[in-house]
Amino acid sequence: MEKLVIEGGRKLTGEVKISGAKNAALPLIAATLLAEGVHVLNNVPDLRDTRTILRLLESLGLTWKREGDALYIDGTGLRYSEASYDLVKTMRASVLVLGPLLARLGKAKVSMPGGCAIGARPINFHLTGFEQLGVTCDLEHGYVDARIEGRLQGGTVYFDIPSVTGTENLLMAASLAEGTTVIKNAAREPEIGNLIDMLTAMGARIEGRDTAQLVIRGVKTLHAATSRIIPDRIEAGTYAIAIAATGGEAVVKGCDPAHLPALLGKMHSAGVAVDAGTDSLSIQSPVCRGERIAAVDVTTMPYPGYPTDLQAQFMALMTLATGVSVIHETIFENRFMHVAELQRMGADIKIDGRIAMVKGLAETDLFGAQVMATDLRASSSLVIAGLAAVGRTDISRIYHLERGYEDMVGKLTGLGANVWKEDE
Ligand code: EPZ
Repeated sequence: MEKLVIEGGRKLTGEVKISGAKNAALPLIAATLLAEGVHVLNNVPDLRDTRTILRLLESLGLTWKREGDALYIDGTGLRYSEASYDLVKTMRASVLVLGPLLARLGKAKVSMPGGCAIGARPINFHLTGFEQLGVTCDLEHGYVDARIEGRLQGGTVYFDIPSVTGTENLLMAASLAEGTTVIKNAAREPEIGNLIDMLTAMGARIEGRDTAQLVIRGVKTLHAATSRIIPDRIEAGTYAIAIAATGGEAVVKGCDPAHLPALLGKMHSAGVAVDAGTDSLSIQSPVCRGERIAAVDVTTMPYPGYPTDLQAQFMALMTLATGVSVIHETIFENRFMHVAELQRMGADIKIDGRIAMVKGLAETDLFGAQVMATDLRASSSLVIAGLAAVGRTDISRIYHLERGYEDMVGKLTGLGANVWKEDE
């Protein structure tokens, strides 16, 4: 396995280009299962997770090729309906093939994803949603065996919690159902709007984009289309926070600031100068003005609230602030795996259930250490801390990082960081 080595203490300057969004690419790649013909997806990031879902689509009979950041996926060859355990266990977003397989073939056998580092992550909302469309879901030997005779039937689906992939799965299934489906308490993340745009281009009839109530009037068939993956708001937020944490001044290019309302508000409150363009963010740390980062409280919420996927990264910033920051993680039950590692770098953090109290170091610094990545976003939190820390930080198990950040070493080097990979 490889580790990431960072010689910290250098201000990030210059500019960094953001890639396509992982959490848009995964559902949009899954949506190609819905129609024959060659789908074109532009601005697709080349990540461990996008490679995983493409392997899954191959196992179902589809073919694809990549040319630069464009993917050409032929949905014609779909002939299998089983997603194996060894693929699903590496990426729980594989459950996103359930909806399209049920819509196209009337059956799907997908391994239960199982939990991951950040929580149990059940899929009960997905399954009860499919049952509202007439599907029978049996759970046996760790697999979901879902099937229906004939076409899915439109119905009303209500999510107790606005599930992102649950909303995406039901959107894809309902697009080919007979009749109208209403999804209530739907998630409103920008990645869902990206999927709605793709499905609409394929011939689906969907109303309520960006709202909590989606109305889908099913059609008999869909056709292949050309779509573009939106910029990765979580990658953009990660680099913006890293620039602020290192006392730097730099531009995050090729992003959509409108997708980061909560983060930009919090960074402003922390004293970071943020200048939002149409597709860029200029970030200036308060340290450039001889001031300190101010402590800010954060509570994670479904979009447009503060994203849980940027909680760990913001906590790294808060370890350097003046004052105490209270961080409340409301989405996942175990998303503080980064705390123990940050503490090993000198951070002063106390956890009480889903609340972390971060006492900023203010006048002193974090120090480099050997730390271990546990999940995707916790890894990026350790990278931010290592960039800001004095001395060398070695981050092991960086395969977690490579699931969701394209060419992070190249992008950080472009911002002036001293970072490289080594064999562990
Ligand atoms: C998506 O996961 C993202 N993944 C996650 O990003 C993100 O953290 C999460 O949404 C929340 O924004 C992708 O889009 C591929 P949820 P998802 O269903 O859809 C509970 C990353 O780092 N729940 O919105 O799995 C669940 O346990 C990843 O890129 C149920 O109880 O999240 C959680 O507490 C991590 N039953 C809450 O709802 C269900 O059937 C929100 O989960 C579904 C969810």
